[in-house]
Amino acid sequence: MMYLANQNKHIILLWVAVSLVACKANETPEAAKTYPTPYTLEVPRGFPNPKLSTTNPLTVEGIELGKRLYNDDILSTNGRSCTSCHQPINSYSSPLFTSWSGITYSVPPHINLGFKSSFNWDGSQNSLDTLGMGDFEPEFFNTDPVLLFKRLSEHPIYSDLFKKAYNIANVNDLTYHELKKKIAMAIAQYLRSRVSANSKFDQFRRREVLLDNLEYEGYVIFFSEKGDCFHCHTEPLFTDQQFHNNGVSNTYTGFNRGRFAITGKDADMGKFLTPTLRNISLTAPYMHDGRFKTLEEVVDFYDSGVHANGYVDPLMTKTNGERELLLTPLQKLQLIAFLKTLTDIGYTQ
Ligand code: HEC
Ligand code: HEC
Repeated sequence: MMYLANQNKHIILLWVAVSLVACKANETPEAAKTYPTPYTLEVPRGFPNPKLSTTNPLTVEGIELGKRLYNDDILSTNGRSCTSCHQPINSYSSPLFTSWSGITYSVPPHINLGFKSSFNWDGSQNSLDTLGMGDFEPEFFNTDPVLLFKRLSEHPIYSDLFKKAYNIANVNDLTYHELKKKIAMAIAQYLRSRVSANSKFDQFRRREVLLDNLEYEGYVIFFSEKGDCFHCHTEPLFTDQQFHNNGVSNTYTGFNRGRFAITGKDADMGKFLTPTLRNISLTAPYMHDGRFKTLEEVVDFYDSGVHANGYVDPLMTKTNGERELLLTPLQKLQLIAFLKTLTDIGYTQ
């Protein structure tokens, strides 16, 4: 009896040892893993709280799925992907897009979107989770639903990721609307995970580098009443996330009406969501319709081109009571040099 018990003990010990080795080699065995894996967003010091979604929490697999879909022309029948218009090299923007209705847009960059609460130039969208759903239309992706279901369900990586990220065993079980929703949600997760905080200016703020003389003087102009840019292009996102009429237009028709087109309120005439200035050197041309080709043109505009009419923001009237900044040629160069320090080239790679 004694002998048998000892034998058993040895067998048990051996089994424990073998399992320990097996676990060590493979951390958690695949079968024991539960998906999705929660993802914690690292928020740079000084940044506001990100606008995360309780119904679409960040997960490792959701972000991976979103990243693939964002870059993949599998969603379209015309070879387009999100990155056709939101190109990495331009900080995930591209020069211009003209809609079928004839409106020319400067394509906004995708940078620090997880901190924003309104989207598009006129703030027509307020949820990143659903924003991508509009891109399946003929004008953008011209998606063929039948083909989309077929491509995704037959794709080994996508079917695995849909299962892990959203516990969807087979995408064919979804309606087309549900599928578009899940795709948009996964892409939103990916976009929220994309944080940029490593421009030369960020490094300067962290006391890692110095600005050169030109950049430093431009920084002073930007953040003082002289240039008075910081009231709307507020740190650290370089947008106050508010709508302003900065006086680019004198008459208000079509796209120039800005926020008015959404709210119908007279007070919103010509107002646009203040765009970020992060990576601004990579996202020409400028303003909602891309009317300025260079930063030189933008600075000339703020210096002496601001229109005066009843709709222009009071912030555009400077302390001298004028709308002109009266910058010297050197000060203009300094301001542009400063704007270029907002470039985070690593973000585009
Ligand atoms: C054919 C060009 C084109 C394609 C393809 C495209 N976009 Fe856009 N995107 C635009 C334009 C133009 C705007 C600005 C629209 C406006 O202001 O009304 C925009 C705006 C956005 C914005 C708002 C950014 C901000 O800061 O306000 C997001 C987010 C976005 N797109 C995501 C996507 C996603 C995700 C995809 C792929 C599913 C995609 N886009 C595909 C042209 C495109
Ligand atoms: C009253 C608020 C306000 C002030 C002050 C202001 N801006 Fe702007 N800025 C805006 C708005 C709003 C837009 C977008 C307008 C549009 O698209 O028509 C904009 C657009 C820009 C753009 C183009 C961004 C893009 O993505 O196309 C640049 C560059 C810029 N501003 C730089 C500056 C500089 C430099 C100063 C200071 C000299 C300044 N801004 C002062 C509100 C402001």
